[in-house]
Amino acid sequence: MSNRLNVTPNDLSAFWMPFTANRQFKQAPRMLVAAKDMHYTASDGRKILDGTAGLWCVNAGHCRPKITEAIQQQAAQLDYAPAFQMGHPIVFELANRLVDIAPNGMDHVFFTNSGSESVDTALKIALAYQRVRGEGSRTRLIGRERGYHGVNFGGISVGGIVSNRKMFGTLLTGVDHMPHTHFPDKNAFSRGVPEHGGDIANELERIVALHDASTIAAVIVEPVAGSTGVILPPKGYLKRLREICDKHGILLIFDEVITGFGRLGTPFAADYFGVTPDIITTAKGVSNGVIPMGAVFVKKEIHDAFMNGPEHMIEFFHGYTYSGNPIASAAALATLDTYKEEGLLTRGAELEDYWADALHSLKGEPHVIDIRNIGLIGAIELEPIAGAPTKRAFQAFVKAFERGALIRTTGDIIALSPPLIITKGQINELVDHVREVLRAID
Ligand SMILES: Cc1ncc(COP(=O)(O)O)c(C=O)c1O
Repeated sequence: MSNRLNVTPNDLSAFWMPFTANRQFKQAPRMLVAAKDMHYTASDGRKILDGTAGLWCVNAGHCRPKITEAIQQQAAQLDYAPAFQMGHPIVFELANRLVDIAPNGMDHVFFTNSGSESVDTALKIALAYQRVRGEGSRTRLIGRERGYHGVNFGGISVGGIVSNRKMFGTLLTGVDHMPHTHFPDKNAFSRGVPEHGGDIANELERIVALHDASTIAAVIVEPVAGSTGVILPPKGYLKRLREICDKHGILLIFDEVITGFGRLGTPFAADYFGVTPDIITTAKGVSNGVIPMGAVFVKKEIHDAFMNGPEHMIEFFHGYTYSGNPIASAAALATLDTYKEEGLLTRGAELEDYWADALHSLKGEPHVIDIRNIGLIGAIELEPIAGAPTKRAFQAFVKAFERGALIRTTGDIIALSPPLIITKGQINELVDHVREVLRAID
């Protein structure tokens, strides 16, 4: 029997909260107790407009009936099936449905349970692929400054956020980083893809010249970097990375954990930019954030290179107990149905201009030094308080929550990424909340 009855209600001490200022939170907790469509309900009964799709994941909005029903039914029918050397039908159906909406040629899917696991899975596939095709000297991985690829050891090694790296030793060896693509001096207040800085992709040539292509397995980038404050790829940047990777036999991995499933108004960012990588990592929107799931898409050539050797042998020594879990698969299928029925994977394209106008109307408000947008993503960068970086944005976050809007801050940047069901009226409401908050904070 559960001993839940013995737990003191409202004792917050036992739970060590992730990526949270624990002591501060526990003095003034912000609790969410329910959600529906575009809104959360806070523990004091207030409705909170969700400006961040939870954590960039609830793309179809909250508590959608189809997804809820699918989870309930699946839990009652087949709760769990072993993932190794066994299968269950709906995970195969899900893989086919995912491949149908993926960019051309990405026709195999490996299931994980999170973005971090998708990233480490993709890096392992890349290294193993180079080996099975006879290029085993290609062991280096190239990431980018200010990149975020989750919190597992592979992801933090190729990632470029110092606070996520510095406490954890030497990380993976043989990793190098390209420079980031944030050029506020030239690109501030750009609408959509910025004009300047695409040539920075040529830094990859410098890295190749330093290490030699024969040592490099893969390059990983977020097509649009989210967690470090919405950093966009300048015009031509991603195409150039693709060219350089092709020239040198290096795999290109797009980390689409936030950009996948309609965030830019196309199913994937690869579609938006017209650049197809070799591997795509996803999570979050694949199951609407409701049940943990991630999916790594790979090109046929990569998958097929592993299908050698005796047929009774496992081809790739990797996988998770919960890879393709039946309930997560059911949630993901119902999520894809909801996206399809409501046209959500392309709805961002219809709203992109309206969204951009609304966001850029904040130019000239107090503290604002840059505004960036793409698809249904927005960022408002604030001048930091001298000697107290991040304090101003955190004030904005708390004030917005008090006013009834959930926004996200990273550094001194406010990042917005609402569910794709947002209406024009709700866009105005969200931006008005931000406007009032900017006027109210120090
Ligand atoms: C680009 C990217 N990769 C990986 C991750 C990690 O995902 P998770 O938190 O599900 O492990 C995130 C999370 O925000 C992300 O934005």
